[in-house]
This record gives sequence, structure tokens and C-alpha cells, in this order.
Amino acid sequence: MAIPLLILSFLTIFIAYKLFQRLRFKLPPGPRPLPIVGNLYDLKPVLVRCFTEWSQIYGPIFSVYLGSHLSVVVNSAELAKEVLKDNDQQLANRNRTRQIAKFSKNGMDLIWSDYGPHYVKVRKLCTLELFSMKRIDALRPIREDEVTAMVESIFKDCVKPADCGPAGFNLVLKNKGKALVLREYLGMMAFLHITRLSFGKRFMDSNGVIDQQGEELKGILNNGIKLGTKKSFAEFLPWLRFLFKAENEALAEHDARADSFTKKIMEEHTIARKKTGNTKSHFVDALLTLQKEYDLSEDTIIGLLWDMISAGMDTTTITVEWAMAEMNAPSDTADAPHKANTNVKIGGYDVPKGATVSVNAWAIAGTQLSGKTLSSSDREVSRGGHRHEGDRLSATSVRLRPAGVRPEDMDMMEQPGTVTYMRTPLQAVPTPRLSADLFKRVAVGNV
Ligand code: HEM
Repeated sequence: MAIPLLILSFLTIFIAYKLFQRLRFKLPPGPRPLPIVGNLYDLKPVLVRCFTEWSQIYGPIFSVYLGSHLSVVVNSAELAKEVLKDNDQQLANRNRTRQIAKFSKNGMDLIWSDYGPHYVKVRKLCTLELFSMKRIDALRPIREDEVTAMVESIFKDCVKPADCGPAGFNLVLKNKGKALVLREYLGMMAFLHITRLSFGKRFMDSNGVIDQQGEELKGILNNGIKLGTKKSFAEFLPWLRFLFKAENEALAEHDARADSFTKKIMEEHTIARKKTGNTKSHFVDALLTLQKEYDLSEDTIIGLLWDMISAGMDTTTITVEWAMAEMNAPSDTADAPHKANTNVKIGGYDVPKGATVSVNAWAIAGTQLSGKTLSSSDREVSRGGHRHEGDRLSATSVRLRPAGVRPEDMDMMEQPGTVTYMRTPLQAVPTPRLSADLFKRVAVGNV
């Protein structure tokens, strides 16, 4: 008896709240939401395509309910400017999923923090210290090392001798003319680069063997993806979260595992600094030596280190893969969703406090709905009048060499997900044109 009554009460409260919102606010139009689940069942896997279709039905600004949570999506350059420039500060909060809330200790990092004194402080730290030109230059040898290591591994794989036949006789190159999956090489390069930059360590030896700590790190990353992609009703029905005990425990366990991994690394660097008196340029040493000056809690240091891992790894791989596929599509197809910290008006409609606001960059750049793209100065004002943090680093870590593959021969569809990989990984046939010694890795120690 108690459970049906409980469900009935929730339903009544939900419907009353929705009615109240409808009467109080002039919300953007959108697909009709069902009670409780909202539009969850209307969504198609590749969100940016789905949103672009909806923008053609409902107009350049529409509402979509993810469960009971209101999300507003804008699909034109004019409205993007209203979100990212005119109402920047009012929309500079973040909507944290359960996993993200746990992992970021409720926004104690940069990416997931709400706009306020903490955000301003860590943003300043990132701009002046972590991403200063001086530090980015000092970390250049790591980038060069990892790019040459990737080139070497592509070279080795494409001139791999076949196992058959006695060595030296009838040498057959096993992979000659064979297409290699670029994402595997790019992904490994991005992993080694960003983890070295953040954690100050190369987790792979010169024979390509990942050490125990590296395996643990990969385990944490894979588990994070598994937890993050698992669809759960608890995500969309906050008032029922207490019922999902096993899921909550899995999130807490994952968080504790990542914390203990990171604390161990921090400890190792603290011991090394004391022993040698030498502070390196990587982010762990930088953050630990700046901890007092910027009044950083341990949670913030850990959060910032993981921000770099999550923001800098897939994005770099995806950008190069799409660019090599000669696709004129931005890899950040939808901007990281913003959250209203007060009631705001966008495009003449109300966006109530707490609603999520997404800019569908794919629609704007790809289909030019408005006939006008977002200018770089409009884009730069996002989140408190500053530029995207990784700009200096992403510009230095990505060097493109477009493959001469005909676009009509390729599957240019996107894979569903938070970040937009190509559905079919790009393959290319590498042909060495220079002498073998020019493909050798130029290894450097940690800097
Ligand atoms: C080509 C590669 C990259 C792309 C396409 C990309 C894209 C993005 C996007 C769309 C955002 C959200 C901006 C917003 O909230 O409006 C973002 C934020 C961020 N990115 Fe990148 N990113 C790239 C590389 C990197 C790298 C290499 C790093 C650092 C190692 C990095 C660190 C960050 C950080 C810390 C933020 C949060 C900024 C904030 O909330 O204030 N990114 N990135």
C-alpha cells in the first residue's frame, strides 16, 4: 500500500510542478514530454543530429526534458551569442551527473565547478600557471617525444616482417599496403602525453609495455567510461536516487580508487622533490608547489589533475581523426552544457534557474542554420569572459597531415557518446618514404 501511495504522491507533485512551470514561464517549444521520463524515449543516439532535426521542427531554440530535468538547446549563431556572451555569467554553472558530482567532489575542480569565487580562483591558476606559455614551452619535449614515439610505432607496424619463412630470406612485410586503424595510435599518443603532463610519469617502457600503475590508470579510465555510459533512471529521477544503492556504492568505490591512485603519485613526487630539490614542470609538481599560494584543497588538486585527463585525451584524438578524414566538422559538436544559476531570457523565451543550456555547435557550424557562424571572439567569452583553457595546449599538441582519402569512400557518421568519435574508425595505409632512422623515437626523461 505504501509504495503505490508514494508513487502517486510523486506523480502528483511532478505534474503540479510542471503545470506551475508552464504557467509561470514562457518556455521554448519542444517535443511533448511524457510524465517522469520526459523525452528520454524520443532521443536518437547521435544527439547533435537529433537536435538538429528537432530545430527544424520547433525552431532554433527548443526545450527537451531528460527525465524531469529541463534542457534548452540553441541551434543558431545568434542564440549561441546570447548564451555564451550576453548571458555568460548567468549560465556559467554546470549540471553534474551523479558520477560527475561524486568524482569532482561536487565541483571542487575547474570543469564541473559552478561560477563563483572557487571557479575564478582555479581559472586564474590555470591561465597564469598551468597553461602559461613558459610552462607549455617547458613541456614541449614531452609532446615531441610522444609524437615521435607514435611515428615510430606506425613505422614498425607497417614494416613488420611476416612470421613465416627463415629470417633474411624472402622477407615479406606482413603489413605492407595494409590499412592501420589511426585511432589506436592517436589514442595511445594522447594517453601517454596527457598522463605524463598531468601525473609526471610515462606509464609505458621503451618496449611498449605498460607498467602496473599504468594498468591501474587504464582500469580507472575504463571503469569511469563504463559507469558514465550506463543508462540509469536514477540519473533522471533525483528523488529516487536513494533506491539505487548498488549504483551509488559503485560510484563511491570508483572515486576512492581514483583518489588513492592520485594520492600515491602525489606522494611519489613530493618525496622526489625533497630528495632532489628539483621541481619539475608537470602539473603534479606545479599544483603541489602552488597549493599554499592559491589555497588549494587536496580535492581540488586531484580534481584538476583528472580534469586534464578527461578534457585533453579524447578531444585530441578525435580532432586529428576527424581532420584526417577531411570532415569539416568540429569535434566538440555540442558545447559542454551550461546551467542557469538564475532565471534568464534567451531568444525571447524563459530559461528557469537550474535548467541546462546546450549550444548545438554541430548545427551551427555544419548546417549554418542562421547563415552566420559563431565568430572566434564570441566563442572566447564562454564561462566568465575567458578562453577555453586547453587552447594553448591543444594548438601545440595537434599537428595535422590530412590523408588523401576520398570522403565519398568513408563512413562519415558519428558514434553516439559524450564526445563524438567517428562511427567507423579511420584507417590509412602508411608508406614510409624516408630512411628508417628518421622514424626513430626521440625519447626524453620527465620534465
Ligand atoms: C582539440 C582538442 C580540444 C577540444 C576540441 C576541446 C574542447 C573543449 C570544450 C568544448 C570545452 C567546454 C568549454 C565551455 O564550457 O564552454 C572545453 C573545456 C576545457 N578543456 Fe578542452 N578541448 C581540447 C583540448 C584540451 C586539452 C589538451 C586540455 C588540457 C590538457 C583541455 C582542458 C580543458 C579544460 C580544463 C576545460 C574547462 C574550462 C572551463 O570550464 O572553464 N582541453 N574543452
